[in-house]
Amino acid sequence: MGFNTTLFAPLSRRKFLRHSARAGAGMCVAGLGISSYARHVPQAFPAEEGTLRAAISIDTRAILHSINPNIYGAFIEHVDRCLYGGVYQENSRLSDERGFRKDVVKAAAEWGVPILRWPGGIFASFYHWENGIGPKSSRPNLQNEAWHEEETNHFGTDEFVHYCHTIGAEPYICVNHNTGTPQEAANWVEYCNGTGESRYANLRRKYGHPEPHNVRYWGLGNEPWKMPTEQYANFAFECGKLMKSVDPTIKLVACGLGGIPKPLFKKLGLDPEWNRVVLRKVADIADYLSFHEYEGNEDYDEEQGSIQRFEASINSTAADIELTKKPIQISVDEWNIWYRKHGLPPPRSIEEGVDEKYNLRDALWTASVLNLFQRMGDRVTMANVATMVNAIGTMYTSDQGMFLQTIYFPMKLYRRECGSQSLACKVESPTFSSKSFQDVPYLDVSATLDADRRNLAIAVVNRHESKPVRTTVSSNGTIGSKATVFEINGTSPEIENSFSEPDNVRIVRKEVNRTGDKLYYVFPAHSITVIKLSMI
Ligand code: AHR
Repeated sequence: MGFNTTLFAPLSRRKFLRHSARAGAGMCVAGLGISSYARHVPQAFPAEEGTLRAAISIDTRAILHSINPNIYGAFIEHVDRCLYGGVYQENSRLSDERGFRKDVVKAAAEWGVPILRWPGGIFASFYHWENGIGPKSSRPNLQNEAWHEEETNHFGTDEFVHYCHTIGAEPYICVNHNTGTPQEAANWVEYCNGTGESRYANLRRKYGHPEPHNVRYWGLGNEPWKMPTEQYANFAFECGKLMKSVDPTIKLVACGLGGIPKPLFKKLGLDPEWNRVVLRKVADIADYLSFHEYEGNEDYDEEQGSIQRFEASINSTAADIELTKKPIQISVDEWNIWYRKHGLPPPRSIEEGVDEKYNLRDALWTASVLNLFQRMGDRVTMANVATMVNAIGTMYTSDQGMFLQTIYFPMKLYRRECGSQSLACKVESPTFSSKSFQDVPYLDVSATLDADRRNLAIAVVNRHESKPVRTTVSSNGTIGSKATVFEINGTSPEIENSFSEPDNVRIVRKEVNRTGDKLYYVFPAHSITVIKLSMI
């Protein structure tokens, strides 16, 4: 890999903006609402056969918004081996005395999962939480009606909250909009958060938990789109009202609809007005509107390009929210690549299980989603990759051990190394087009500063399947002479990790010395890179 430096005169903020404006449609100014990209490599770069060139310039004084750490969150569901056999496995040498898989706990803690959504998913639509409390020996063994499996109820509310404490995550509980009632949901809030002498708070104490669990985030159901829109809107309103009357400090997530191409709405019997109707009803009580986004395609460029659909979902959800004039945030509380065994979009079947084997190109897409969240962090303040383990998961376990799937690494890298302040950044990049998506830049970038504005992190995905991109990186701030580079890559975009080859894709760290204020960096083909520089 090449890394050269050259002298560079820092751009003033005014010059940066003038430069950005002049560039017109030939570039993207991340976070400034302009997202059209150069079709060709800019003239400024000398042509060199077979070489792709790009430029990134960062305005370190233009902080656009804060980034909520909850965008790096995860989701666990009682589906297939996600919960039982992934998160929780009783009587296994790989579990602790509570039944928590120690290898999974370690990987989740190293990632720093900030928020964990549970119990589903579709499972939540059939879950009655009172079956999962009290002594395990008296909990009913039931049929998991969502996924047609046995449900022991051995992992319930108390176990979930303790699991969250163990990995350092905020708990986020999704209530049952389908076979449940608003009263049942409000009782659940009381069980978790009640401090008085009420029935459910006392039940929690009786079962050995004197202190409240303080569950702050609550979802008003999951994918309720089969319900008539008004019916769901009324449920969400009544349920949310009752839940907030028990604990007014909780944050509520109402279910929205995104990620599905508009022409498919009719075919799937979905209401194109869903978001607006729901928002009209819940605007005074909801803190978030959610949507789910699953993508993936056999075609490399289609998969990478589908990030444009994801961005469109965020924009259309934001536009629907805007109409309410309320500070409602977006929660993308399920997202991932999911296609090898299941056609898009839902409903999906579990007949063959829901495991996916992820490869490097799926990790490139994952990193692009995280770039998107960082750039659009003024709108998206929570997201939960689906799922954390096994079923379409970031980790994969067996009775013998575990390995980390490729998509685990961008989650950990961005959570650990990116800053909490999103910066304006201009990117000039060559582009590609696929069947459904036009002018997708090969280089996808987000730039951040940490809270005390000392460290700059430039996160770059080179989506090109086979070519490196020689890039000039400039900033108007003065940067130190040492750079730390973190790279996720592998021998080909199709490469996967496995039990026998767990390190094909991983994070590699290197320290690099540099001089001057401008750096040239060659982003290798099919790579994810975070460059960290200190500001002086
Ligand atoms: O976790 C997989 C499933 O995908 C969830 O249950 C559902 O919400 C989504 O369609």
